[in-house]
Amino acid sequence: MRRKSTLAMMVCLGLSTLPALAADSIDALARTCNNCHGVNGVSAGGAMPSIGGQSAAYLKQVMMQWKTGERAAATMNRLIKGYSDDQIAELATYFAAKPWTPIPQKASAEVMAKGKEVTDKCSSCHGDTGGQPDDELTPRLNGQSAMFMHLELDKYRDAGFKMTHKKMIKSATKMEEADVGIAAQYFGSQSK
Ligand code: HEC
Ligand code: HEC
Repeated sequence: MRRKSTLAMMVCLGLSTLPALAADSIDALARTCNNCHGVNGVSAGGAMPSIGGQSAAYLKQVMMQWKTGERAAATMNRLIKGYSDDQIAELATYFAAKPWTPIPQKASAEVMAKGKEVTDKCSSCHGDTGGQPDDELTPRLNGQSAMFMHLELDKYRDAGFKMTHKKMIKSATKMEEADVGIAAQYFGSQSK
């Protein structure tokens, strides 16, 4: 009798807490990302990108491309293989709902002036400061880690490194070597 009612109670509890459990498990999953990407996906800089506040479509697409092997990476391609497609979609939605928070980074007046010039061709897609992406699959660059962006631009410029976006590959490949770091610092130091 006692056992039966306990069981009934557990079943009831189980059903009524299902949505809460799902939210808990996505929180737990997302915490494993925070070790590298920062709380709420706001990076401390260096090689780690901020991911909080990028669009869900972009976050999901990049992760799925790593999972299928269509796109190369240093770390994420191996790490993401342990996640189901549903978990990837949930993680993308979770981080997209966080506010985009530019990392405070400073560049010299000289770099800013030159940066404005060399990023002229980038603004049609990224906006003048990198903060006005023209579509959902274009990531925000304003206040993104400059070092990370430099590393990414080098990947697009390296024909032997598997990247997927043809126009971005073309744009990056056309850049002068010396301008790559300048563009990365220019966008990295933008607050809007
Ligand atoms: C061990 C550190 C580490 C962990 C843990 C980690 N990441 Fe990453 N992440 C990186 C690095 C480094 C990059 C840059 C690409 C690369 O080199 O792999 C990256 C890039 C990304 C990007 C692409 C960002 C962009 O703007 O292109 C996404 C999306 C991402 N990670 C999502 C996640 C999610 C979601 C998790 C948790 C499930 C996670 N990462 C866990 C290190 C990590
Ligand atoms: C035709 C539109 C277009 C133009 C022009 C363009 N970009 Fe991009 N950029 C994109 C898209 C879309 C992505 C994401 C591509 C992908 O999924 O790999 C991207 C990605 C990037 C990234 C990686 C960000 C991240 O979070 O991984 C950087 C850095 C970047 N662009 C800088 C530049 C710079 C600098 C220029 C100008 C020299 C430029 N882009 C020109 C559309 C464009």
